[in-house]
Amino acid sequence: MKKAWKVAVVGCGGFARGQYLPNIRSEANADIVAVVDPIEETAKKVCEDFNVPVYYTNVDDLIANCDFGIAIDAAIIQEHYEINMKLLKAGKHVISQKTAAPTVEKLTEQIEMAKKMNVKFVCVPIHPMRYDLNLAKQWIKDGVIGDAYFAKCNMSHGGPEYFQYRDVNPIWFYEDGAGALIDMGVHGLQIVTTIFGPAKKVACMAKITCPARMVRSGSFDGKVIQTDKIPDQYVITLDFGDNKMAVVDTGFSQKASKTPALEIYGDLGTICFTEGYMTNPIPEVYVDNPEKGIRGWMKPMPGVKIPKKLKSQCCCLADMVDAIEKDRDPVLSAEHARHVLEIICKIPEAIKSGTTVELETTF
Ligand SMILES: NC(=O)c1ccc[n+]([C@@H]2O[C@H](COP(=O)([O-])OP(=O)(O)OC[C@H]3O[C@@H](n4cnc5c(N)ncnc54)[C@H](O)[C@@H]3O)[C@@H](O)[C@H]2O)c1
Repeated sequence: MKKAWKVAVVGCGGFARGQYLPNIRSEANADIVAVVDPIEETAKKVCEDFNVPVYYTNVDDLIANCDFGIAIDAAIIQEHYEINMKLLKAGKHVISQKTAAPTVEKLTEQIEMAKKMNVKFVCVPIHPMRYDLNLAKQWIKDGVIGDAYFAKCNMSHGGPEYFQYRDVNPIWFYEDGAGALIDMGVHGLQIVTTIFGPAKKVACMAKITCPARMVRSGSFDGKVIQTDKIPDQYVITLDFGDNKMAVVDTGFSQKASKTPALEIYGDLGTICFTEGYMTNPIPEVYVDNPEKGIRGWMKPMPGVKIPKKLKSQCCCLADMVDAIEKDRDPVLSAEHARHVLEIICKIPEAIKSGTTVELETTF
């Protein structure tokens, strides 16, 4: 049996507690050796709850004092760049929560540092690893819906203060460096670029729909927070060249929705995603077969090439460990994340000018 990978988790909030800490030991041959959070009680409580031997209140102390090989950065978005750079410079393999940097240049710095230090750098979300999305990609490749040319992605919820439980103040989601586009839009943009590849142009409209919101759970339940600095609802349109385009509707302003999370349209059909992707669902497919004179919805069987099912959002760790051990590229590429980040960074310009903005990066 190989020695287990030593993993440190930086940021002990809702996502780390819910998704990483409970799954690290079962997703890979890995152990949690330390956690970091500036709120000492939070870090201490996580150590107790998840049987972690040691905590630190900053990443510098972690790097100076702890023996570990892989770090998962699950801190608040505004801190990712600094945390990731410190970890990469120290020669650690890094899984970064989204978004890894505030600008394309700062993500490039991380990509270059990872190369220089010969370590793997994984940027989530995990959509390119999804079972349902990989099934759909295979069907598209095999021509099941003909020429796939349009995708509609609904990536919204009612806001982190409404939709998610946490004990820290959720106000940071509405402050500079975060916001609905960076927190939620990143999912939709990663999904549609997973299907169609790099986009060529972006246009967008956005609004601040709710300038104040009430926190609905956790320690700050009932507190009213000002949410009037950054738009909280976006309609993004993307041009992929030729006949391909996508719409991503994303934000914190949909308390509930029955819209499919994703539909992909082609000249011979539609693929429709209605179920939670972590349950590894099989999407519904509408097929039009003019030669046979038959058309209709179906729930297909997976077929011959069956993608891997996901166990948890910590699947990125399993992929990271496999990528290190086999010296291959991880599935969740930082170059893909950089393209998504470029779209995010150009959206304010597209909104302000009311025009379509060209994109330069690719993956
Ligand atoms: N489905 C998803 O992919 C998904 C869902 C929710 C959150 N997230 C991401 O997970 C990350 C954390 O979100 P969350 O919901 O857990 O937020 P949270 O507010 O619940 O927790 C964030 C934690 O980070 C800590 N922190 C702040 N600065 C830090 C620093 N410098 N070093 C270490 N820790 C620091 C805070 O004290 C807090 O405990 C974000 O990047 C967010 O975008 C992803």
